[in-house]
Amino acid sequence: MHVIFFLITFCALVNGDCIFRSNDSKVLQDKIKKWKIYNNTLTRNTSTSIYQIGICLAPNNADIHGAVIQKENNNNNNTYVLGKLDEANLVEGANFILLTYHNGTRYSNQCYDNTRSASIFFICGQNKENITVLEEHTTTDEHCNYVFEVQIPEMCPVVPQEKKSMSGGAIFLITILCLASAYLIGGFLFMRIKRGARGVDQIPNFEMWRRLGHLAADGCDFCCRCNPNTSRQGYFLDETGPDTRSDDDILSP
Ligand SMILES: *[C@@H]1O[C@H](CO)[C@@H](O)[C@H](O)[C@H]1NC(C)=O
Ligand SMILES: *[C@@H]1O[C@H](CO)[C@@H](O)[C@H](O)[C@H]1NC(C)=O
Ligand SMILES: *[C@@H]1O[C@H](CO)[C@@H](O)[C@H](O)[C@H]1NC(C)=O
Ligand SMILES: *[C@@H]1O[C@H](CO)[C@@H](O)[C@H](O)[C@H]1NC(C)=O
Ligand SMILES: *[C@@H]1O[C@H](CO)[C@@H](O)[C@H](O)[C@H]1NC(C)=O
Ligand SMILES: *[C@@H]1O[C@H](CO)[C@@H](O)[C@H](O)[C@H]1NC(C)=O
Repeated sequence: MHVIFFLITFCALVNGDCIFRSNDSKVLQDKIKKWKIYNNTLTRNTSTSIYQIGICLAPNNADIHGAVIQKENNNNNNTYVLGKLDEANLVEGANFILLTYHNGTRYSNQCYDNTRSASIFFICGQNKENITVLEEHTTTDEHCNYVFEVQIPEMCPVVPQEKKSMSGGAIFLITILCLASAYLIGGFLFMRIKRGARGVDQIPNFEMWRRLGHLAADGCDFCCRCNPNTSRQGYFLDETGPDTRSDDDILSP
């Protein structure tokens, strides 16, 4: 009876190749199962070692339980298992998820002869290749524990696409349009009610716009007309053009 109960519990906890401790939340396990990185392996080369990190997948076929493998670059070429898939532990913080593998290769004459363990912090980030080694055990710097940091795009808050679709240019155009219509309507009402204007005179600053229109027409004329009679050299620089002569009394001799 005990054996059957144990088997049921055990099988319920098998999730891919990771076996989580019974207190780890099933919701959290289902969350990391949806990640692209799940059931995959990562490699990180440092100056001292090559780390193969399995996310619920053994990186080395030779050891189906080894979750994180360290190959030292030194003369000895030592290989250590830093934790096992069947000793996985999962906890969630405010903005991280921590996966820890226990029961790796035992230290000898170091770290109280404990087994090696490796922790992987999953944080929000787009760069899946950027694996940071936060802590590693070396002969000169004994940490007894290995800590990695891996960026997970799926952990980043989802920004609604619809609200993002309005670009800066569109907002600028809408602002200009709003200002222009406010100017036209406001000016129209002002001219009509305060000044008692009728017809085209209701358009605000009508005289200025009329002159601007003339100038624009002259500009087009100058640029686009092929007829050499209507275009003169230095037309734009000539302040006493036919349209402005009467107005610019100060500039006239
Ligand atoms: C994990 O990936 C391996 C091959 O990379 C595949 O054989 C296995 O079925 C996958 N397991 C799950 C649970 O997706
Ligand atoms: C699960 O948690 C309870 C209390 O939170 C604790 O008493 C129990 O030992 C834990 N079980 C395991 C397997 O860690
Ligand atoms: C790490 O180093 C090994 C051998 O030194 C090489 O085969 C592998 O491509 C390297 N991986 C990365 C990600 O640089
Ligand atoms: C360590 O590995 C490198 C390449 O993987 C090899 O060239 C070298 O001979 C190895 N050293 C020892 C002591 O096995
Ligand atoms: C740790 O791994 C060893 C084999 O390396 C195994 O004999 C032992 O039962 C494991 N310990 C636990 C608590 O699973
Ligand atoms: C990798 O991530 C760390 C922080 O997690 C950051 O400081 C570093 O600039 C990143 N490097 C690259 C190349 O993105």
